Amino acid sequence: MIEIAKYHSDISRISSVDLSNPEFGKECSDHMFSAYFENNSWVQPEIIPFGTIEFLPSMLTLHYGQSVFEGMKAFKMHDGRISIFRPELHYERFNRSLERMCMPLVPKELFFTALIELLTIDQAWVPSASGTSLYIRPFCFATESRLKIKISDSYRFMILMSPAGKYFGKPFRLKVETEYTRTAEGGTGYAKCSGNYGSSFYPVKHAIEQGFDQVLWTDAKEHKYIDEAGMMNIMFMLDGKLVTPALNSAILAGVTRDSVLTIAKDQGIIVEERKIAVEELRSFLESGKVSEVFGTGTAAVVAPVKLIRIGDADYEIPEPSENSFHSKAYSLLNDIRTGISPDPHGWNFII
Ligand code: COI
Repeated sequence: MIEIAKYHSDISRISSVDLSNPEFGKECSDHMFSAYFENNSWVQPEIIPFGTIEFLPSMLTLHYGQSVFEGMKAFKMHDGRISIFRPELHYERFNRSLERMCMPLVPKELFFTALIELLTIDQAWVPSASGTSLYIRPFCFATESRLKIKISDSYRFMILMSPAGKYFGKPFRLKVETEYTRTAEGGTGYAKCSGNYGSSFYPVKHAIEQGFDQVLWTDAKEHKYIDEAGMMNIMFMLDGKLVTPALNSAILAGVTRDSVLTIAKDQGIIVEERKIAVEELRSFLESGKVSEVFGTGTAAVVAPVKLIRIGDADYEIPEPSENSFHSKAYSLLNDIRTGISPDPHGWNFII
């Protein structure tokens, strides 16, 4: 049994935060979790007030990017209980990311005890307004002080929590990216490592300057097949079938992706996980057989796309309606998470 030391913050900042409509990632809750990996074991697990931490500027993670994170969400259920959505899947993906970056795995007991105790201490931070949640950010980074390129011998594992509202306020515009790449097969795309995000800033900045909101990544080798959209998985309703790129080493195995595909199958919708060529998408768009395009992700949940640029051509996607599959899937996900609808797959981990 893991004993976590607890040092409570003297004052709470909660009254200064608008929990009815929190800006994603702006404020962190009063406490955070921290543990160190030293001499091959995890030590000093503690919950401490959220605040600054000390490190040497020669810390390896700052130079060589040995750093991974997860993003999951806790919800206030309609009966007042708190549930975390599918934490097992997030835990497994966290360890896959750690393994890819040559970092020590986090034991399940440590991960779950830290999560439950931190959430219990800061439970008042779980918002209850519709569409809100408490975003939970476990992360781990190399702490050894060394300028040599090497795998670090020491690490810190931390968890932050932040009240979250909507990530995207409105349907977004996507540009099919054929110049830059996010990652290649054999690279780190399936891992949630910090470098995947930092390296996407430049292409996304260019896309924004051209009037788009995000890029639709294509495979690094031929720029012929669709990978993901920005920081989300992408799904298309093509001629009545829900089609999404099959997972490979360049694509993150999204928990929301899996949940939305499961909801679609439960509703009898044909789901195809396969390679999608950009030219195939273009011909579906030209023949008017694309009824919905949307991104899925923990932060964004289900985010509709309103326009796709392929080469020089812009293709408008029909406006979402209440009957669109993704609108219904979004509502059902919210209802399952808050206990309004049954949870047939056991996705809620109730605290
Ligand atoms: C998520 O949806 O979990 C993400 O990782 C997005 C995040 C980087 C804000």
